[in-house]
Amino acid sequence: MPAAEAESPNVLELKNVSKTFVNPDGRAFEAVRDVNLTVRDEPGVGEFRVFLGPSGCGKSTILNIVAGLFPATAGQALLRGKPIAGPGPDRGMVFQGYSSYPWLTVLDNVAFGLKLRGVPRAEREKVARSWIKKVGLEGTEKKYPNQLSGGMRQRVAIARTLAVKPQIILMDEPFGALDVQTRLGMQNLINELWEEIEGTILFVTHDIPEAVYLADKIHILSACPGTIVEEITVDLPLHRTEDLKTTQRFRELETLVLQKIRHAARGGNVRITT
Ligand SMILES: Nc1ncnc2c1ncn2[C@@H]1O[C@H](COP(=O)(O)OP(=O)(O)OP(=O)(O)O)[C@@H](O)[C@H]1O
Ligand SMILES: [Mg+2]
Repeated sequence: MPAAEAESPNVLELKNVSKTFVNPDGRAFEAVRDVNLTVRDEPGVGEFRVFLGPSGCGKSTILNIVAGLFPATAGQALLRGKPIAGPGPDRGMVFQGYSSYPWLTVLDNVAFGLKLRGVPRAEREKVARSWIKKVGLEGTEKKYPNQLSGGMRQRVAIARTLAVKPQIILMDEPFGALDVQTRLGMQNLINELWEEIEGTILFVTHDIPEAVYLADKIHILSACPGTIVEEITVDLPLHRTEDLKTTQRFRELETLVLQKIRHAARGGNVRITT
């Protein structure tokens, strides 16, 4: 392949991405400014990036731009070197709040993306059933989302997103509404599934232990207009289990993240990487 046609070594690149919304009264509002992010393509190994930042700083806005739901107003958002022009099967999103289709059964919800891709019924139901099993929902195939608990519904949304094996998975506070126990279970589930899918995950949370437990790298955003002001590499083992949470290194990382969030809140923008 000629060099000019070679695929970009980066799965995702945001270069000085900014987004200004125009409100109904005509006033412009800058939600994010100069966001820079590079996720490299490491064959067979995904990257788990976590975004932490105050409410309203633009975390969902960044994920929506990567999902192709709306464009950046300035800068470049590139997927494998090409500008993001809209949604695509290479990206899957688990939205903030529950996002299952209420009129479809669990089985049809999880099979939905495969149906859109034209996968024949028998094949898509087989794949959907295997994902329903992986997220621990075996036996609920014929139920509707309103017959499930919040945690179960969120597992349906996760199974539906992962069933099509997107290369980039966007998860916007996926566990925000769950009780502590379910949330811890979901974190372990995501860790296990991530090892299997070998993709890149961009994950938004407000929870520091969750960020440290899941991330390869944590991006801390400033208040609105949001921009990445700190990056922390999480040097914990790739394979993570609950016992890590009681280790000294885990606690040190939690403290470091907290310090940097405080630093960012005071208006600091000096990038410190560990
Ligand atoms: N479609 C829109 N039109 C106008 N303003 C918007 C729009 N979408 C988001 N905003 C504004 O942009 C800012 C960033 O919003 P965003 O939803 O990205 O924040 P967030 O970091 O995800 O917050 P949270 O943690 O509360 O979910 C907010 O001030 C929000 O009001
Ligand atoms: Mg949000």
